[in-house]
Amino acid sequence: MSRPDPHSYADLDQGRISHQDLDLFIDFASRRIEGAATLTLAVPAGGPLDLDTRDLEITGATVGGEAVPFELADPDPVMGTRLRLQLPPGTVQATVHFATSPQASALQWLEPAQTDGGTHPYLFSQCQAIHARSVLPCQDTPLARFTFHATVTVPEDLTVVMAAAPGEAVPSTRAGHRTFTFAMPQSIPSYLFAFAVGNIVSKDLGPRSRVYTEPETLERAAWEFAEVDSMLTAAEDVFGPYLWDRFDFLVMPSSFPYGGMENPRLTFLTPTLLAGDRSLVNVLAHELAHSWTGNLVTNATIDDFWLNEGFTVWAERCILEKLEGPEAKSLAAAIGRNGLNEAIGTFGPDSPFTRLKTDGKGKDPDEFYSLVPYEKGFLLVSLLEQAVGSDRFAAFIKRYIEHFSFTSITTEQFLEFLEAELPGAAEKVGAKQWVYQAGLPANAPRFTSARLENLQGLATGWADGKRPDPAAARSWSPEDWQIFLQALPRKMPEADCRWLDESFDLTNARNAEILCNWLLIAAGSGYEPAFPRIREFLGEVGRMKYLKPLYNALHRNERTRTLAVETFADHSAGYHPIARGGIERILAQ
Ligand code: BES
Ligand code: ZN
Repeated sequence: MSRPDPHSYADLDQGRISHQDLDLFIDFASRRIEGAATLTLAVPAGGPLDLDTRDLEITGATVGGEAVPFELADPDPVMGTRLRLQLPPGTVQATVHFATSPQASALQWLEPAQTDGGTHPYLFSQCQAIHARSVLPCQDTPLARFTFHATVTVPEDLTVVMAAAPGEAVPSTRAGHRTFTFAMPQSIPSYLFAFAVGNIVSKDLGPRSRVYTEPETLERAAWEFAEVDSMLTAAEDVFGPYLWDRFDFLVMPSSFPYGGMENPRLTFLTPTLLAGDRSLVNVLAHELAHSWTGNLVTNATIDDFWLNEGFTVWAERCILEKLEGPEAKSLAAAIGRNGLNEAIGTFGPDSPFTRLKTDGKGKDPDEFYSLVPYEKGFLLVSLLEQAVGSDRFAAFIKRYIEHFSFTSITTEQFLEFLEAELPGAAEKVGAKQWVYQAGLPANAPRFTSARLENLQGLATGWADGKRPDPAAARSWSPEDWQIFLQALPRKMPEADCRWLDESFDLTNARNAEILCNWLLIAAGSGYEPAFPRIREFLGEVGRMKYLKPLYNALHRNERTRTLAVETFADHSAGYHPIARGGIERILAQ
């Protein structure tokens, strides 16, 4: 038996699913998807085949049209439920008939009132890390890649988009319905399976890119992300050719719980990026960079997640540097470093969660998600780059991508490749300590600039009476504001809060990063004039990056604990299941 991924029941010795043919009927009335999945094995197999499911109802399994035995094990709270098919010898294809649960952890079903337009319902999936099993029976491990073909039937006034190449939409045999067809010719790990259904329209932004959104948001989104084509070119410069044909993206309803999700051919993005000033497009660059680090070269299991995210943050900042210069990169790295310090502070510097290589066995990946793999990973990649020089490192990255494309690798495979390609580099930077030990090694690179030092100096001198010159600060960029606000004390006297708010109108900031950073100070300081906006903001956004720290800040302070509980009661029904779970854990502390 070989169960190589602690978060999956897949036993790759039994057989490997290399293709899925999916037929899905989306039923908004019952909030269920009825599906048939025909699984093709890479090599004919017989005997047991274990699949991952979560809250799936299995209504039948057939091979060559004949029913075959199947059995669902007892559910596990983290892993879900093992489905075991019994295959006749020499089986190439098996079909599983199933239905999802209204509580499927990968799906959010939205009422029309939760959408921009307010007239059509909406459904979207979010499968990373281990939620694909709640939408379809599969080997839900990045070690098992598959291609797929899908037909999706929905009411005829709705449109389906999918992280795949779209085919035709044709009238369905079900009255009042249409069937959309998709093909995914490049093999993907299950966590990249993704689709959305709603009143969705699109606009071309370049020869390879198009933005999809609800009609109400289309023009704003097209303006915000107009630079996508130059990002794509800059990314190819870093990594080599783009192998997914198109780079389209979907701007989601506000309850989308992440900033972005790198679903191949169709990145999903939070609408909180629509700041009206293009200042938050780094998230688009990040998801684009995953087209190589993540989608071509994928972490073998969640324990190697830093390979996905650390390299992607590094690439995101290379793209930023190419488009906006070195200062922009330093500011972004400094913002990242603040986040890392905070994450390490929360876990504690000796916590195993601050290692790059983690041991997540038995744990829910949503619970230990943090910035550590992103920002500590970024620092290690940057350190290696500095150690060997940027030219040698640039060539190394291209070889790394080429060598491991369409495979899923462990940290150890990476280290072995590194040693073969850049002998001695790992030793020179102490890579083993970085990877296997907790906390941040002393040789972590520092990114700085005169501008950064000035901003941080202003903020850290706050208690000694240092204040920014209001006239100058009004022309600060959004990144400047983030740096400054993040470096201010978490708790400030009311008069100081009032001065900041009145001078810079922070409570009405349109940029979600600035607003959230300010509201965190306001919450930590118990600054009451900002409370109505905090309440409102927690109802407007679904992105966990904002929800979790704000609920945390409110919950930590006895004076605002009730505000946290009441606000959650008001809005929890609209939050994504993953976000709701995360906030419940905060409020239960
Ligand atoms: N792949 C992640 C999002 C993710 C990670 C979803 C783990 C579920 C489980 C995505 O690429 C990401 O990192 N998004 C960040 C953007 C950022 C670091 C620029 C986010 O959502 O904030
Ligand atoms: Zn990422």
